[in-house]
Amino acid sequence: MSLPQRVRLVEVGPRDGLQNEARPIDVADKIRLVDDLTHAGLGYIEVGSFVSPKWVPQMAGSAEVFAGIQRKKGVTYAALAPNLRGFEDALTAGVKEVAVFAAASESFSQRNINCSISESLDRFLPIMEAARLHGIQVRGYVSCVLGCPYEGAVSPKQVAAVANELFAMGCYEVSFGDTIGTGTPGATRELFNEVAGQIPRSKLAGHFHDTYGQALANIYAGLLEGIQVFDSSVAGLGGCPYAKGATGNVATEDVLYMLMGLGIDTGVDLDALVAAGQRISDVLGRANGSRVAKARLSG
Ligand code: HMG
Ligand code: MG
Repeated sequence: MSLPQRVRLVEVGPRDGLQNEARPIDVADKIRLVDDLTHAGLGYIEVGSFVSPKWVPQMAGSAEVFAGIQRKKGVTYAALAPNLRGFEDALTAGVKEVAVFAAASESFSQRNINCSISESLDRFLPIMEAARLHGIQVRGYVSCVLGCPYEGAVSPKQVAAVANELFAMGCYEVSFGDTIGTGTPGATRELFNEVAGQIPRSKLAGHFHDTYGQALANIYAGLLEGIQVFDSSVAGLGGCPYAKGATGNVATEDVLYMLMGLGIDTGVDLDALVAAGQRISDVLGRANGSRVAKARLSG
């Protein structure tokens, strides 16, 4: 299969990245990050989550963040919603697209959202119904697609079963989360191959955490499987509060650099993106997690 001409980057830094920071982050800094990412040309930004603040304190200010960002026409500003309450809060905050999140492993589902996989899918049904009523698109996530921090190996069939349920209930796209970053390119190809037998490739996305340094290779494997949407996090921000030791998503700068080298269009400006990543890294007082940013800023 030949490589796509265009890829859609889903920027998850403000949500997947910042949700894992231990120190409180000012709402103004979160707003600035989202505005910087808009300025860099990202067409899809996951801004925050409407989840229980007891579970993920860092996402508590998401409504204020949505109120403060400058929305650019044509850009999608999305939020996670684990239940109807989260969806309604998102709606009140003016969110136009939400994401629901399930897991391919029972233990991770329990630790992350305090219910079984099938209970979580049942919880999403009223969200789907309400979303249809309000003309809101819903994206679906499956976590632990290439390994679970509690159960180890996860079979592609198990992943496909959960993904199928999300797609069947109306998620327009399903993103496959390698939550702990243990996946390798062969396993990635096998997974997408398995799922693509049941859901069109154009409806699949890859979401790779870079814990084991495999994310870029896995994205390339995804490209070879005809996948054209990838999630990433500026400056490689983040981790997962319920997957100990997991690092952030692959850095958006690094993905962009690779795609530029392959001649694949994304509409994103690398210099502006590097500036956005360095700015939030300075705010957080952490080293920039993008290799490309580090190289370009050292010269
Ligand atoms: P629970 O404790 O079972 O829920 O949590 P509950 O219904 O019993 O409610 C408990 C309390 O939470 C109540 O408050 C509710 O009102 C409140 P209290 O009466 O105790 O004061 N509550 C809420 N508050 C605000 N917003 C809400 C909400 N719902 C209930 N929406 C629940 C269940 C799902 C709520 C909880 O487990 C939760 O919020 N989990 C979120 C976990 C999370 O955000 N994880 C990170 C995102 S997923 C991820 O990172 C993976 C991904 O990146 C892909 C990958 O990498 O694999 C997407
Ligand atoms: Mg994630």
